[in-house]
Amino acid sequence: MDYTKLPILDATGYAILDSYDQVADPQEWLDVEYVDWKSSGDTRFAPLASAYGDMECNGFWNHTPPKTDKDGVWVAKNVAAAPILTRRAQEPGANIGRCRIIELQPNTYADAIYNLHRDDNNRLNPEGTGWIVRAFFNLTDNPDSVMILREEKDDPSTETRIPLPAGAQVVLDTQRLYHAVWHPGSEPRYCLITSYESGPELDAWMSGRHPIDRFTSVPLDPTFAADAYAEAQAKRDARAAAIAAQGADPTFGDGTLRAGGMEEYEATAEVLSEA
Ligand SMILES: [Fe+2]
Repeated sequence: MDYTKLPILDATGYAILDSYDQVADPQEWLDVEYVDWKSSGDTRFAPLASAYGDMECNGFWNHTPPKTDKDGVWVAKNVAAAPILTRRAQEPGANIGRCRIIELQPNTYADAIYNLHRDDNNRLNPEGTGWIVRAFFNLTDNPDSVMILREEKDDPSTETRIPLPAGAQVVLDTQRLYHAVWHPGSEPRYCLITSYESGPELDAWMSGRHPIDRFTSVPLDPTFAADAYAEAQAKRDARAAAIAAQGADPTFGDGTLRAGGMEEYEATAEVLSEA
């Protein structure tokens, strides 16, 4: 038994869809309530759908009873404040899990590389059902910001950087691809992130929006990139050392984090940098 997956995402794990006319809509993301959830302060979320309809953004599996990232319950107050965004989330007609607006403060390329992570959307998801993927609808106009994707976490040659102007619509297999957003600038970026179950509804919605699964990134200056990789690695080393100092050795002794340590690290990175 395996999961139902979308052929559109087979080759690269991402699909860039037709852009949405975002400018014509009101800025509903300024009217919703944001919650501080295990956050560094650089990232906040406003839930439109949560595990049981409460104003919170925790993973669905962290509730009683736990559930997989499906059958999200609409959060009445934020749905009332953001009816257009709610309609957009519902437009594909697929089962929705977490649905929330992210507020991301400006960061650097090195920050984003440090924050690269994979999601855990399919925890508790029964085999034989649809694989959970995520749609990102960029709300603010951030043409100089990019969604960084990597097939291999430490291999820059696998990196794709997708620009995020207002209305950009991207669907990602976020449990396959490492991802994080690099958001230079001076104002926060807002984006609607929705977990969808793969199946005929999502397939039809995506297929009708001219999905592109190969994108050629604007090249980075090699020196700039190398400096950023070094900075990110230094932060990872410092974090591993901090974890080690707290007690349990999280490494194999060569600086490589054990699986448990990496899971904890990536879960933290997901919270801090959820793209
Ligand atoms: Fe993520």
